[in-house]
Amino acid sequence: MTKINVRLPIGKQPAIKIVAMPKDANAGGSIFGGWIMSQIDIAGAVPALERAQGKIVTVAVNSIEFHEPIFIGDLISCYAEVIKTGCTSITIKVEVYAERYLSNRQTVKVTEAELIYVALDENRKPRKLPDLGTEQ
Ligand SMILES: CC(C)(COP(=O)(O)OP(=O)(O)OC[C@H]1O[C@@H](n2cnc3c(N)ncnc32)[C@H](O)[C@@H]1OP(=O)(O)O)[C@@H](O)C(=O)NCCC(=O)NCCS
Repeated sequence: MTKINVRLPIGKQPAIKIVAMPKDANAGGSIFGGWIMSQIDIAGAVPALERAQGKIVTVAVNSIEFHEPIFIGDLISCYAEVIKTGCTSITIKVEVYAERYLSNRQTVKVTEAELIYVALDENRKPRKLPDLGTEQ
């Protein structure tokens, strides 16, 4: 499935938007993978915090795929959603898109990842997720 010249997801709001800056580039001229992973973790924490209604930590990154590079000046949008909850854990899918306004103006799905967050109590121990009354 092509991930180049796609549209941003319709009807969804990104958890974060940010412009990739020169300081985030690697020696090869594209954006450093560690910077992208950091943005993914920040974005994933947004729906995880909303679901946990309190302190969370990242416990695992189940998968991450870099489909296409990010370049300096690309406008990055990270979409994040809860795909599963357990007793104390929240699994989040993050999809990252780049809008290449400085070059060919294409929108590209560059990266996707799945992360797991755990709700913590005041002693930093796993805490049961609150019942929000919104899940089946
Ligand atoms: C997160 C932490 C509190 C979990 O402690 P723990 O003793 O392993 O807790 P548990 O075994 O009870 O697991 C808690 C939940 O996490 C899940 N989990 C734990 N390790 C996991 C892993 N490697 N992959 C996926 N899920 C995992 C468990 O399945 C459980 O989910 P559930 O309650 O929904 O069934 C602890 O590992 C920790 O503090 N890790 C450091 C976190 C951190 O610093 N992250 C980086 C910066 S945010």
